[in-house]
Amino acid sequence: MARLSYWEGEPVSVWTDRWGVPVFEAHDELASTNDRLKEIAGQGAGHFSVVISESQSAGRGRRSTAWHSPAGSGLWMSVLLPASSPSVGYLPLIVGLATARAVEQVASVIEAGIEWPNDVLIGGKKVAGVLCEAVRGSSAGSGEVVVAGIGVNVRTPPGGFAQDIATRAGSLEESLETPVSRGALSGAILGELMRVTEAGGSHRLALPEQVLAALNRRDVFSNQRVRTEQEGPGIARGILETGALLLERDDGSRVGVVAGSVRLE
Ligand code: BTN
Repeated sequence: MARLSYWEGEPVSVWTDRWGVPVFEAHDELASTNDRLKEIAGQGAGHFSVVISESQSAGRGRRSTAWHSPAGSGLWMSVLLPASSPSVGYLPLIVGLATARAVEQVASVIEAGIEWPNDVLIGGKKVAGVLCEAVRGSSAGSGEVVVAGIGVNVRTPPGGFAQDIATRAGSLEESLETPVSRGALSGAILGELMRVTEAGGSHRLALPEQVLAALNRRDVFSNQRVRTEQEGPGIARGILETGALLLERDDGSRVGVVAGSVRLE
C-alpha cells in the first residue's frame, strides 16, 4: 500500500485541517479502507478519522458481497464514528442519509432516494452504498466506535460496471451529466456526519425525529410491494425509529424487518 502525500491536487495535511479531522490517510491502493481504519482505530486514532483509497483490491459490501472499487471512478472512504450500543442498529441509516444529503449538495440533485437500509439511488440506479462495522478494542476515547465505509460511484468505469451489478449500478456523473468533485463530496459527507453526531444522533435510543422524517421522505420502498429475505412479501410501510423497515404482510399483520435483502416485486 502506497500512502499518498497529495489527494485531489492538494496536500493531505490541507484536507486534514480543512475537514478538522484527527487523522486523514490517502492511499493509492488498499485491500479495504474499512480494514485500514480499524487498524488505526486500534492504535488510538480519534473520532472522525478518515481513510480514502484510490482503489481497493478487496472492497466489501453488505451481506458478504464484493464492492468493485476500480481506480479513478469512485470515492472509497471510511470514517470512524462514535456510537452507543442502541445506535449501532440505526447508525447505518444515518450514514446513508448523510451520503444522500451530501450528494444532493454537491451534485445539485433535488432529492436522492434511499433504498432501505442505506443504498443511495438516483433515477432508480444505485450510486452509493454503506457498510458499517463495529470496532473492538479501540482506544479512541470512551464508548464504542463504528467504522462507516462509504462507496460512491462518481463516474462509470471505462467499459462500464462489472457484469454482476451492471443493471443496478449508476454513477453520479452519468446520471447528472455534470462533473463531481470528490473533495467537495467527501467534505460534505463528513460535514453531515459531524452535524448529526454532534446533535446526539449516534447516542440515542432511537433515530431522532427529524432524521426519521428525512429518511422516510427519501424511502424508495414506501407503499411499494416488496419481497424481503427475512419476512417474505408484503407492502413496505416506512422506516421505524429503530431503523427497521415496517412490512405489512398480505394478512394485514405488520412486522419490522431488521436484516437481509429487500427488493421491489
Ligand atoms: C454496499 O452497498 O453493499 C456497501 C458498500 C460499501 C463500500 C465501501 S467502499 C469504502 C469501504 N471499504 C469497503 O471495503 N467497503 C466500504
